[in-house]
Amino acid sequence: MIHVTEVSLEYDTPHGKVLAVDKASFSAAESEFVCLVGPSGCGKTTLLNMIAGFFPPSAGEIRVAGRPVSGQGLDRGIVFQDFAQLFPWRTALGNVAFGLEMKGVAKEERERVALAQLRLVKLEKFAGAHPHHLSGGMQQRVAIAALTREEMQRLLAEVWRTTRKTIVYVTHNVAEAVYLADRVVVMTPHPGRVKAVVGIRLPRPRDPLSVEFLEQQKSLIAHLTRQEEET
Ligand SMILES: Nc1ncnc2c1ncn2[C@@H]1O[C@H](COP(=O)(O)OP(=O)(O)OP(=O)(O)O)[C@@H](O)[C@H]1O
Ligand SMILES: [Mg+2]
Repeated sequence: MIHVTEVSLEYDTPHGKVLAVDKASFSAAESEFVCLVGPSGCGKTTLLNMIAGFFPPSAGEIRVAGRPVSGQGLDRGIVFQDFAQLFPWRTALGNVAFGLEMKGVAKEERERVALAQLRLVKLEKFAGAHPHHLSGGMQQRVAIAALTREEMQRLLAEVWRTTRKTIVYVTHNVAEAVYLADRVVVMTPHPGRVKAVVGIRLPRPRDPLSVEFLEQQKSLIAHLTRQEEET
């Protein structure tokens, strides 16, 4: 169980202190899937880093299973959006096309789709390059191009279902939050605050095309846009 209580974090910068998180409170029950959503700069990563114990809050308290977090621990794992998991012997195109190949898509078609996906991450010129000839960031973009969002979400929901771990997951994507979460923490930037905590009480597996799903999505978007009107 994770309890984040009145947590604030000030970063020291050359231009003075920046209040990145202001008195944020939320909790995640055991085995619960909690999503943090909100615009860029609202403090999502900062909060995750503090839950992981990489640095302490400036004020407030984080407890995991009743104990205050005072550093990193084996009871918590953190996964960054780092998909640098490419086959070194395949080109960028070959890596992106791999999933389609597994699905039995014909060569010409999968190369056409893979090239379009590489174009989206601005790497079509590197289609023929092997991973070791690409920078870390470029490798990451190839890996992202190779994964569909649906595949990622399904995988994550399955891992959560089988392991029953408590998860705090960051996303900008409201549909993704409604698909995955028991509870969504809506945040607002400058300074980062918790605007609302919304329970998602839809049965699983969830159908992103159902009326209930779309209604839930609409209500979350309303929370997010309301916050923008106020800032
Ligand atoms: N190391 C740092 N030094 C100074 N300011 C920082 C630092 N890291 C983050 N900030 C500031 O703190 C605020 C919150 O940043 P954070 O990275 O937590 O946001 P975020 O919600 O994860 O954003 P994004 O959606 O873009 O990943 C931002 O205003 C950011 O500029
Ligand atoms: Mg972030």
